[in-house]
Amino acid sequence: MTTTATSNAPPPEVSRTAPAATPAPAPGAAPKELRILLLEDNASHAEIVEHVLKEGGLRFSLTRVETRDAFQDQLERATPDLILSDYALPSFDGYTALTIAKEKNPGLPFIFVTGTMGEEVAIETLKNGATDYVLKTRLARLVPSVRRALQEAEERRERRRAEEQLRRSHQQLRALTTYLQYVREEERTRISREVHDELGQALTGLKMDLAWLSGHLPQNARGLQPKIKTMSSGIDATINTVRRISTELRPGILDSLGLVAAIEWQASEFQTRTGITCNVTITVSETLWDQDFTTAFFRIFQETLTNIIRHAKATRVEVKLDAENGSLVLTVADNGRGITEEEMTNTRSIGLIGMRERAALVGGDIGFQSAPGKGTTVTVRIPLPRSPSPAGPA
Ligand SMILES: Nc1ncnc2c1ncn2[C@@H]1O[C@H](COP(=O)(O)OP(=O)(O)O)[C@@H](O)[C@H]1O
Ligand SMILES: [Mg+2]
Repeated sequence: MTTTATSNAPPPEVSRTAPAATPAPAPGAAPKELRILLLEDNASHAEIVEHVLKEGGLRFSLTRVETRDAFQDQLERATPDLILSDYALPSFDGYTALTIAKEKNPGLPFIFVTGTMGEEVAIETLKNGATDYVLKTRLARLVPSVRRALQEAEERRERRRAEEQLRRSHQQLRALTTYLQYVREEERTRISREVHDELGQALTGLKMDLAWLSGHLPQNARGLQPKIKTMSSGIDATINTVRRISTELRPGILDSLGLVAAIEWQASEFQTRTGITCNVTITVSETLWDQDFTTAFFRIFQETLTNIIRHAKATRVEVKLDAENGSLVLTVADNGRGITEEEMTNTRSIGLIGMRERAALVGGDIGFQSAPGKGTTVTVRIPLPRSPSPAGPA
């Protein structure tokens, strides 16, 4: 033995850098110098291992340790690219070394290089995260095993990188969606107000002028009265259209009276327009919840009703709004033809995806229950932004 193993500082270790390998590195060899940590109490065994690695064309620096303290110390200093470890050592054991290394870095390749290892022990260590085991009597396997371990580690890193990238782009997409929806809602609110106020006032002005004109027509122009009447009802119709457009853009009721009132209003509009019976049961008293929360619910509700009009062939819709475990829950059940599983998961179901996304953006979720011919129930559940108002029949 050229190094004496004691558990006291300074850590007993031998650091050597192997000169560039004489044989050209085999294809797939890591171009950079590998950092190898070797846990081995027998110096001549260590030399043989090092020799085999060099002969195999690996470029590496090797640090040998033989105690627990030294092993841990090396792991703390800089994570190696690879750990080679004996199984039985005088003051330490490979099994514990494996546990320590895996805790530090689960992806770190760890190969047992050992004199004897029963098959059962070998299987047990592999189960616990060892990359491979090579018997000292069959060191020809060492270099192929090391190369494979390094390649697998690289592939794992690559995969993690790709996953991380995917996660990040998903996050960015979410942020973009939030932003777009926010901008869209702002824009709609602004246009809704402008259409309502500017156009509404101008039309009312016209109507008043027309009434004045009608009252001041000279005797000989009385024949124009019917024309004035037609114009006046034309203006009335336009005023109604302006109101409708403004309300469709963003119902003022949502901002002035809140979600409960807006849902009741939307449901009654729906019933009037389609002739489909729409019952609303609300068991929460109105609170002016924050705007993102309210908007999410309301837009999902509108999209649900639109889908019922377009697809369901329903004759009856039940709407419920309840508070449940700190969440507000909206269910919309129709008695129509039902959505198929395929339609629910289809990537072209942009409306359904949009509803999911909207709910997710405010921390909620949405579920679709359906069976062919048995109607569809949409359940939206979103955590209340503040503590819910005391529930009670509305
Ligand atoms: N209430 C419903 N009843 C029956 N089918 C529905 C209902 N809602 C949605 N669907 C089906 O799910 C599909 C996806 O809905 P959606 O994503 O909103 O797309 P779109 O309304 O633009 O067709 C619809 O095309 C329709 O076939
Ligand atoms: Mg739709």
